[in-house]
Amino acid sequence: MKINDNIDSLEKYKISYKKSIQSSENFWDEKAERLNWYKKWNKTKSSDFVKGEIEWFIGGEINASYNCLDRHIENGFGNEIAIIWEGNDPDHSRSFTYNELLKKVSEFANALKDLNVKKGDRVCLYMQMIPELAIAVLACARIGAVHSVVFGAFSSDSLRDRINDSKCKVLVTQDTGVRGEKQNIFMKKNADNAVKETPSINHVIVVRRTGEPVHMDNKKDIWWHEAISNVSSKCKPEKMSSEDPLFILYTSGSTGKPKGVMHTTGGYLVYASYTHEIVFDYKPGDIYWCTADLGWITGHSYIVYGPLSNRATTLMFEGVPNYPDYGRFWEIVDKHKVNQFYTAPTALRALMKEGNKWVNNKDLRSLRLLGTVGEPIKEPEWNWYSRIIGKNNCPIVDTWWQTETGGILITPIPNVTPTKPGSATFPFFGIEPVLLTDEGEEILGNNVSGLLAIKNSWPGQMRTIYGDHKRFIDVYFSKFPGYYFTGDGAKRDRDGYYWITGRVDDILCVSGHNIGTAEVEGAIGKANGVAEAAVVGYTHDVKGHAICAFVTLMTGLEPDDMIYNQILDSVTKEIGPHAKPDKIHFTPSLPKTRSGKIMRRILRKISEGDFENLGDITTLADPGIVKDIISSLR
Ligand code: PRX
Repeated sequence: MKINDNIDSLEKYKISYKKSIQSSENFWDEKAERLNWYKKWNKTKSSDFVKGEIEWFIGGEINASYNCLDRHIENGFGNEIAIIWEGNDPDHSRSFTYNELLKKVSEFANALKDLNVKKGDRVCLYMQMIPELAIAVLACARIGAVHSVVFGAFSSDSLRDRINDSKCKVLVTQDTGVRGEKQNIFMKKNADNAVKETPSINHVIVVRRTGEPVHMDNKKDIWWHEAISNVSSKCKPEKMSSEDPLFILYTSGSTGKPKGVMHTTGGYLVYASYTHEIVFDYKPGDIYWCTADLGWITGHSYIVYGPLSNRATTLMFEGVPNYPDYGRFWEIVDKHKVNQFYTAPTALRALMKEGNKWVNNKDLRSLRLLGTVGEPIKEPEWNWYSRIIGKNNCPIVDTWWQTETGGILITPIPNVTPTKPGSATFPFFGIEPVLLTDEGEEILGNNVSGLLAIKNSWPGQMRTIYGDHKRFIDVYFSKFPGYYFTGDGAKRDRDGYYWITGRVDDILCVSGHNIGTAEVEGAIGKANGVAEAAVVGYTHDVKGHAICAFVTLMTGLEPDDMIYNQILDSVTKEIGPHAKPDKIHFTPSLPKTRSGKIMRRILRKISEGDFENLGDITTLADPGIVKDIISSLR
């Protein structure tokens, strides 16, 4: 029984939501039945937020790869398409049926076994968005090896540190990569540099993607195609306990050392699978596309594990939104008749900025649902997405979640929850968000703001930071005992809708008022001509903090007094005069990490005129941007 089959109104959502909280264990027991288990669990959950000990479906045995592949084939769907792969160049795509994918996964699983990879061993996957990445993920899951995917744009030093932190035994990479205009991303070369200082790596498996010549060490390195040339195409899935680790995924922390977020098998898969079906209203036969990279949690949960466990056709894209032109996303939607499209607001802003001519010559009528993730979406891009892409015909799901949460926690239920642009709306079934004061008191009622925390566990919750359980407790559970602390701020409006205001370290205290940087950015974004804005606080004698805004204008526009005043008026109108920026800098673009997050730390320094101590800027997608911004101020 699918929950949204019976829910066609907000009232019904509220009733079902209440039930999911009141009888949480029954609720999740029922949801876990959607998967095939070798052995049923004997206890639904045990969670202790003081010790950071969380377990779900205790005693159960399951295999994630079996649930994503074999069982669909056993049910007669082996010839359905599992993955559509769209290459960097428009004329380059491939597809894999469930039968074909199972064969490839099994072969690679056997190749890993031949290299002595065993249940519990860690395998690092450092690749671009090529089919072999998804195959390797599922192959690890099949034999119980723990995958650690490292985003393909990370440097060799970052790769080295991540490999060493989790002591991976094997590294899988590719010769070189292509991404947009970049025709030669030196993956193997970076891997070579990294493995000079990774004593745990015994073997490096290399996919031949471009055919560019690369150095192969005859002791350590093996071509992927050779590794699978002499293996059986059948591989029995390993029976995993619910709480056996499935993967580690590194995410940045406030200390600079990345955190190895660890997810386990049973609970994670139940959560990814169930949320994927409900939030994206996934129906068999739909073509579903999430534009994220598999190097991030969104790719793990909503390109691979969620969709494939639901027998979806999931699209995987190697390229970028602006290659060969700004119409590429929409061309792919038309080419493959995509029904659900899930992307990040940063991509939408970049595309919106280029105008509608890239969209107007596309059909886009296959689209039934649009989603966003990763940062607050502001009203202008929400409206553009809804009107220009969705033709006012597609619900938009603004999904709030984190690497740590494994899956979506706050989201509209499509066609059920009336949306408000910029609000992630209400908690998903089984999720209990609360707003806390700085002292950890729960803030009740509506029309309030506070720190966002989650009461009680959910199956997709991370289980530990790999190798550092103490840090896990310190970061997420010590500050507010009894809660999982998200690190985000949020407000609950008078109708009970949640609005994520950004990381709490991005909340500014201006003359005693708490102001979310995201709120100010939203207001600035509504001024005519603004493409994107980032807001930081700088130290101010009287106000404590004053606001400095970095603003990028639409292509072709030059800053002038009119735009300047419109920005101030917009902030005054949307928030109040206390939130007006004291400084506005017009810049050619904003410094972003490779995952599209604005690095406010750098802007903070620039806003204080401290150009010499900007700290590490190597994780920026384009470190050169910093110089451009500084020279635009001079
Ligand atoms: O600040 C929130 C923001 O992204 C953070 C999580 O980042 P990461 O672990 O990289 O995972 C991103 C993909 C799930 C959150 O703490 N965030 C994520 N989704 C939203 C969001 N902020 C506002 N609205 C969202 N929909």
